This record gives sequence, structure tokens and C-alpha cells, in this order.
Amino acid sequence: MDVVMYFLLLCLLATMSLIHGEDPYFFFTWNVTYGTLSPLGSSQQVILINNEFPGPNINSTTNNNLVVNVFNNLDEPLLFTWHGIQQRKNCWQDGVLGTNCPIAPGTNFTYRFQVKDQIGSYFYYPFTGLHRVAGGFGGLRINSRLLIPVPYADPEDDYTVLIGDWYTKSHSSLRKFLESDHSLGRPQGVLINGKSAKGDGKDQPLFTMKPEKTYKYRICNVGIKYSLNFMIQNHLMKLVEMEGSHVVQMNYDSLDVHVGQCYGVLVTANKEPKDYYMVATTRFTNTILQGKGIIRYTNGNGPPSPQILKAPVGWAWSLNQFRSFRWNLTASAARPNPQGSYHYGQINITRTVKIINSVSRGNSKLRYALNGISHVDTDTPVKLAEYFGIQDKVFKYNNISNNPPQSIGASIVEQPNVIKFEFRTFIEIIFENPEKTIQTYNLDGYSFFAVAIEPGTWSPDKRKNYNLLDAISRHTIQVFPKCWAAIMLTFDNAGMWNLRSENTENRYLGQQLYISVVSPERSLNDEYNIPTNCIICGNVKGLPKPAPYTITS
Ligand SMILES: *[C@@H]1O[C@H](CO)[C@@H](O)[C@H](O)[C@H]1NC(C)=O
Ligand SMILES: *[C@@H]1O[C@H](CO)[C@@H](O)[C@H](O)[C@H]1NC(C)=O
Ligand SMILES: *[C@@H]1O[C@H](CO)[C@@H](O)[C@H](O)[C@H]1NC(C)=O
Ligand SMILES: *[C@@H]1O[C@H](CO)[C@@H](O)[C@H](O)[C@H]1NC(C)=O
Ligand SMILES: *[C@@H]1O[C@H](CO)[C@@H](O)[C@H](O)[C@H]1NC(C)=O
Ligand SMILES: *[C@@H]1O[C@H](CO)[C@@H](O)[C@H](O)[C@H]1NC(C)=O
Repeated sequence: MDVVMYFLLLCLLATMSLIHGEDPYFFFTWNVTYGTLSPLGSSQQVILINNEFPGPNINSTTNNNLVVNVFNNLDEPLLFTWHGIQQRKNCWQDGVLGTNCPIAPGTNFTYRFQVKDQIGSYFYYPFTGLHRVAGGFGGLRINSRLLIPVPYADPEDDYTVLIGDWYTKSHSSLRKFLESDHSLGRPQGVLINGKSAKGDGKDQPLFTMKPEKTYKYRICNVGIKYSLNFMIQNHLMKLVEMEGSHVVQMNYDSLDVHVGQCYGVLVTANKEPKDYYMVATTRFTNTILQGKGIIRYTNGNGPPSPQILKAPVGWAWSLNQFRSFRWNLTASAARPNPQGSYHYGQINITRTVKIINSVSRGNSKLRYALNGISHVDTDTPVKLAEYFGIQDKVFKYNNISNNPPQSIGASIVEQPNVIKFEFRTFIEIIFENPEKTIQTYNLDGYSFFAVAIEPGTWSPDKRKNYNLLDAISRHTIQVFPKCWAAIMLTFDNAGMWNLRSENTENRYLGQQLYISVVSPERSLNDEYNIPTNCIICGNVKGLPKPAPYTITS
């Protein structure tokens, strides 16, 4: 290398570390333990983070660096995943079993990641085993930087509302059900921030509001299987944000929040000063479960009315609500990959992939699959196997058929499910749900344009019904029974990314896959190097580390 080049490289490195150094760091130490609580009245085992249930909220601003040192004091391996955080170039921090070796009991691991070019409402949860049924989840918010205008006035306060169905059995007994081919069955209740108001006059409020002030509520469904309808008695909710996108603002009486989804709403305290219930009610279920929490006006006087409006019935209502959501195209906000975000409707589709969910209940083995493949985790995370170049020993890429037949579910194969998408291609994914139950899918590493949900089966002529103008860019989409949903996105984030059913039972029993997006250049411009503290396990243990990625022009 000649001297001038070397000098330039040094300058470049110096500027890079400077740029990196400008974004502040926030450090967290998490002690993860079991505890005993009685969220539904009888005592049960829960997972605590620093003695909190739910776990602490992480409050951050676009581009902050978050450093979370997790001490696993459970009796099982543990990983946290950061639901909706895109981990640009950095799937090393995604915290799923295909990218990370789990943190052994009694040890610690430090996640380091930047909430790069994102805003919005997210959450984290434990990805391993069935830990999520026991808690360990918490809110994660990313505020806009001060310079960036937000399309609504600063709220008086900003509240996180984690809603979810809840089981009273421990995560280990529930996992035994699944491993002996039994379904989890019905949850026993619905919690809001780890509690459920009893209505006996002794409930403490979850939140307080000053009269006439406007508050932001960030509502996420952190539950296990059920979609929830969320409402606040007598108060309209103005929807302003959804999974990182500012939306065209509209008022709603109630919102259907499917598992894994997050909404940001504004609520003004302009009603009679007293207590009100916030209510989360299960949808599409025969037995209706409901969780309640109290909001108190600071000048309030009086309990909430016991009268609660009925939640809507049927999925057509929910589909209509989905169709009412629009992206606010004029609102400025941090967005990863702006070139892929604007005018997505004009980008030529490189590839269309159809994904059909299925379940095998026959021959007594309960497994869930995508296109007939039920994913099994490998002892060596598929990302590490690929990075160390020994993927042939660990898994085979599945060249999934672009257009699998509906009957695909007839037989199910159990194997690691890893597919390959070419770096930077624009791909249309169709989710077709032939089952009688709702599906919800989450994709790591990206947000996608949720362009359509319709009844029936998909065919290319349905593209004329897509919203190609202002569909919401988000990370989780529901697919109603006997319906399909279409999403579109540019696969420009190199890494190994998990696509999964948000229904925990389905995911645990194989309804997930990994998408490998490889930058052919092994360039630092496209992907970060393996972190120095990366836990190494399985077949890559003891292997020499591949040459690090370098900066390419
Ligand atoms: C974590 O919590 C457990 C139980 O409360 C306690 O025994 C342990 O000392 C704590 N560890 C750390 C690192 O704080
Ligand atoms: C969250 O962070 C923002 C700025 O990053 C700050 O203005 C706000 O007060 C914080 N909120 C809480 C509840 O800590
Ligand atoms: C474990 O925690 C210690 C601090 O207590 C830290 O120095 C070390 O880097 C952590 N280990 C990992 C693998 O992150
Ligand atoms: C969209 O964002 C712009 C710019 O911040 C804002 O002025 C406008 O009110 C928003 N529109 C709607 C319908 O929410
Ligand atoms: C998209 O495809 C059409 C037809 O094949 C072609 O004319 C057009 O140039 C392409 N557009 C882009 C942006 O590549
Ligand atoms: C994968 O399958 C598609 C068609 O389904 C085919 O066009 C493509 O060449 C295949 N790729 C590989 C790597 O086999």
C-alpha cells in the first residue's frame, strides 16, 4: 500500500470513529432471575429483570448506542431479542438462536447495538425456550432527535402499555406440553403491564393524566397467541405511529393489536375527571378474556364505570381497520434505507416468494411449518456456521419454491429452514394462511411495506389491489384465516434474519425460518465484524476466525 493511500485510510478510520463517537452510549446491567408473583391471583413463577416485571423500559433516541450486559441467573440458556430493532449490518446482536449462541446459566453477555435511523415503539423479550410466557419483556422506545420535527405536539408524558394473554403455568411445564405434542391450550387471562385490575375498588392506577393534557401511549401486544382489541373507556385514541412509521393521524375507538405489533396513540384527558379503564379483550376466540387497567385523572374523583363497550366481533372489522392505516408521506423521520423507502411502488420486483403455513396433527406429532418445512434449531447458530464457512456441516440452504401448492402442508419435513435472498434485491413475499386461525409474522432486520391483506388465495392479478403509495412500513403483519397478505421490501441489510410466526407455540414447534442475505464483498460497508465477545458454540468452537471484513470503496 502506498503512503498516500495509507494516510487516507487512517483519516477515514479517524473520521469513522469520530462519527461513531458522536452518538451517545447508554449502559444497562440486567440481572435476570426467577421470581414469584400473582398477576392473576395465584402465585406463579415469573422472569424478572432487576426485580422488575415487566422488565425496565429502555428509553432512547435515534442513533443512540445501547449496551446491555445481561446476567443470566435462570437455570436455562437465555437470549433476548430486540423486537423491531433493525440491527443494521449487525445481526450479531439480534439475539435469536440462528445468530447467537445462548447465554449459559450463571454467565453474562453484553449486547452492543445502535438504534440506527429508527424512531418509534418497540419491545424486547426472551427468545429462548418458552421464556416469553413467564415475562422478561419490556418496552423499548426510540425518540426522534431534537432537530427532526415530529408531526404532533410534544405530549405531556409518554407511557408504555404492554398487553398480552397470560398463562398461569410455568414456562417449563408449558414447554413440556409442546414437547409431548400437546398444544398450549387457552391462556388464563390478559395482563396490562403485568397486572389485571380486579375492579374491587383497591386497584392502583397504571397511569395518571392531568386534565386537558395530551399523553402518548405506546401499546404493544407482547402476548403468546391472541390478538387483542384495545380501548380506553370514553376516550378516542389518535393513532400517530406504528412500528416506527408516522401514520396519517386518525381517531379510533379501539384498535386490534395482533401479537408482536405496536401502536403509538395520543389520548387527551378531556372527559369527566375520574378513573377510566383501559381494556384489552381477546379477538377471534370462543371464550373471551379481558384484562383491565386504570387511568386516573389527577383531579379525579370516583371509580371507573363498570360498563365496558363490547369489543368488535369477527375479522372483517379488523381487516377494514388494517386498510384504514396510511403512512404519512410528508412527515420527516429517521428511516433506514431512504432510497428503498420512497416510491416503493415503482421498484421492479426481483422475486416473488409465497409462504404457506401448515400444521401436522396426524401421527401424533405436533409440528408447524412454512412451505412444508418445520424449522429445527441447530447447535451451531446458522449465522456462525455460514460465517465460518462450515454451513455444509450444519444445514442446507432450501431453495424454496416460489409458488408452492396449497397442499404443501400435507407432509412436513423437520430440518433447519434457511433460505437465501440476493443482497439488495426487491422481493415480494406473499403469506397465505389456509388455516382457521389467525397468523402473525415478524421479520427481523427490516421493516417492510404491508401492501395488502385479502380473503382467498393470491394470484398475480391481485397486485392491482396493492397499496403502492402509502402502505405502512412495519415489522409485523397479521394474516386472517383463509386470507393472504403481501409485503414488499429491499433486502439491503446483510445478515441472517429470522422470519417467524409470532404465535409462540407455532414458532417453538418450527414455524420460522432464516433468510440469509450475504454481501458478496465481505465488506465492512455492508456488515460489521463478528463482535469480540461473541459466544462461540457447536461446530465452530476452536475454529480459526475468518479474516475480518474490510472497508471497500
Ligand atoms: C441477581 O439477583 C440475585 C437474586 O436476587 C442475587 O442473588 C444476585 O446476587 C444478583 N446478581 C447481581 C450481579 O446483581
Ligand atoms: C426519554 O428520553 C428523552 C430524550 O432522549 C427525554 O426527553 C425523556 O425525558 C426521557 N423520558 C423518560 C421517561 O425518561
Ligand atoms: C460480563 O460482565 C463483566 C462486568 O461485570 C464485563 O466486564 C464482561 O465483559 C461481561 N462479559 C461479556 C461476555 O459480555
Ligand atoms: C403528516 O405530517 C405532516 C408533517 O409533519 C403534518 O403536518 C401533517 O399534519 C401530518 N398529516 C396527517 C394527516 O397526520
Ligand atoms: C422495470 O422494468 C421495466 C420493464 O421490464 C423496465 O422498462 C424499467 O426500466 C424497469 N425499471 C427500473 C427502475 O428498473
Ligand atoms: C432456485 O429456484 C428458482 C426457481 O424456483 C431458480 O430460478 C433458481 O435458479 C434456483 N436457484 C438455485 C441457487 O438453485
